[in-house]
Amino acid sequence: MTSTMFSSLQLPNGSVLPNRLAKAAMEENMADSGQLPGPAIHRLYRAWADGGAGLIITGNVMIDGRALTGPGGIVLEAETPLAPFTQWAQAAKHKGAQVWMQLNHPGRQVMAAMGGTAWAPSALALDMGKHSKLFVQPKAMNDAEIQEVIARFAASAAAAERAGFTGVEIHAAHGYLISQFLSPLSNQRKDDWGGSLPNRARLLLEVVRAVRATVTAGFCVAVKLNSADFQRGGFSEDDARQVILWLNELQVDLVELSGGSYESPAMQGRTADGHTLAREAYFLEFAKELAAVAHMPVMTTGGISRKAVAEQVLASGVAVAGMATALAIVPDLPAQWLAGGDQTARSQQVEWKDQVMAAVARMALVKRRLRLLGASRVAAGNQTGNHSALLTLIIDQMRTRRLTRRYRRWSQARA
Ligand SMILES: Cc1cc2nc3c(=O)[nH]c(=O)nc-3n(C[C@H](O)[C@H](O)[C@H](O)COP(=O)(O)O)c2cc1C
Repeated sequence: MTSTMFSSLQLPNGSVLPNRLAKAAMEENMADSGQLPGPAIHRLYRAWADGGAGLIITGNVMIDGRALTGPGGIVLEAETPLAPFTQWAQAAKHKGAQVWMQLNHPGRQVMAAMGGTAWAPSALALDMGKHSKLFVQPKAMNDAEIQEVIARFAASAAAAERAGFTGVEIHAAHGYLISQFLSPLSNQRKDDWGGSLPNRARLLLEVVRAVRATVTAGFCVAVKLNSADFQRGGFSEDDARQVILWLNELQVDLVELSGGSYESPAMQGRTADGHTLAREAYFLEFAKELAAVAHMPVMTTGGISRKAVAEQVLASGVAVAGMATALAIVPDLPAQWLAGGDQTARSQQVEWKDQVMAAVARMALVKRRLRLLGASRVAAGNQTGNHSALLTLIIDQMRTRRLTRRYRRWSQARA
């Protein structure tokens, strides 16, 4: 079994992953001023490079400085200075892993405090219950804005290649812009970009085509897709299967399967539609079925933190096991497993009545861990004790407020 985990994998474009364990995307929210990666990010990725994952996918990088998933987000546009990105790629690549930049546009999943105008397929705000007001009221995009987004994905991918990344992953999951287009709940357009599945999937397919046409053949292009939204009437598993059939035609090197959105956080193992996910490897059943129709290798991420589970994933037709939280807790888990250990990364549970705040607190705990790693305040391999979830949430919110003020100043200076 271990031999599968640590055997290499050749991708459709000929590139090779040195092993089947991936560090999945985690937004670090750690940008330096100018929304650029800095020394803390470089140290963090050096730790993951040393940790032995064969594929390192960055936290989502924004293709448009006017639309960020969070105020500490990193932005890469056509004119952005590349040096900080080159250092980032070098830090992550220095042990031979593939290093892919995840590219994203948040669409309507933007905090209202960020300011600016949010774009979405339709002018429908998020329904986050009593917390809904914290999020923007988006406007429906016009044709020119959709074309601009497509061009921006391609421009950011080209910049990522120039900076030395070995691939990009297009974020089409978790309720962000492309995922909003895919879902009939958030996309109620009556034009060529909404309605039928071919129309709802058009943005994703156009983005993939534009990116593929801009980068070189040896540069990897991957897609992160929801196996379903886990909302009644949302993007379904059947939709996901059809989208994969279309992606089969487009020289995609890997599809990562996840699920959910801010409204239904299945990626944290919890759904809004009452669907029960597996306790570990949440999306494995979906991934197995979808891998059967995919021509490219499939990766699944969500709830993997034990060696036996990663082995089970890889034994069931899924080519790559992705881990996010586990590698925030133990960045060198792959290296430890390779050395014969079977250490488990234990994530901290937050069970509060307010599901939204509990989800935010879980994220805040992981992000705190990333900052500690970036500050070299924890040695790889050490699982430190739990932090107070409430205190971590308060620190996170204070930090977010400060970063939001900085972002707004930057954004106004650019405008
Ligand atoms: C702090 C944090 C930040 C995340 N940021 C991203 C992101 O930028 N892009 C993305 O696709 N997923 C993001 N995710 C989701 C993870 O990639 C992953 O799909 C999810 O956490 C489930 O995997 P896990 O159980 O291994 O953590 C994030 C998760 C966490 C905990």
